[in-house]
Amino acid sequence: MDDNQLIECAKEARSLSYSPYSGFAVGAAVLTKDGSIYLGANVENSSYPVSMCAERNAIYNAMMDGRTREDFLALAVVGDTAEPISPCGACRQVMSELLPEDVHIVMANLDGKSKATTLKELLPFAFDGSDL
Ligand code: THU
Repeated sequence: MDDNQLIECAKEARSLSYSPYSGFAVGAAVLTKDGSIYLGANVENSSYPVSMCAERNAIYNAMMDGRTREDFLALAVVGDTAEPISPCGACRQVMSELLPEDVHIVMANLDGKSKATTLKELLPFAFDGSDL
C-alpha cells in the first residue's frame, strides 16, 4: 500500500469525525505489516478536554484488535489545513509510547499536499518509560 492509498483511508475515517464544537474534522489510518488498516477520527465532547484526536483513536482501535508496537508500519493523518496537518503534542507522546520510532508518518491535507516523516523526527528526545 502506498502513501496515497493510506491517505485515502484517512479521508474515509475523517468522514466519521464527530467534531460539532471545533468544526474541524480529522481522519487517521494505521497500517500494519500484514496489510491491515485501522481507522480513527477525532471525537469531541461538550466538555472540551475530554475530546480525542483522530491519530490516537486509530492507534487505540488497532490495539483493541491485539496489535502491538512491532506490528505497525505507517500512520496517515489528514485534515483541512493549508499545509499537511501536523499531529498534536499529545498524539506524538502516545505514538512514542505505542509505535516504533521508525514508523512512517504521512501528514496530508485535502488539497493533495502531503509530507512524510518518522516518529523520531516528530518527537526527538522523547520522554519514555526508560526515564522512570
Ligand atoms: N485534532 C486531531 O484529531 N488531530 C490532530 O493532529 C490535531 C487536532 C482534533 C482535535 C479537535 O477535535 C480538533 O482537531 C480541533 O483541535
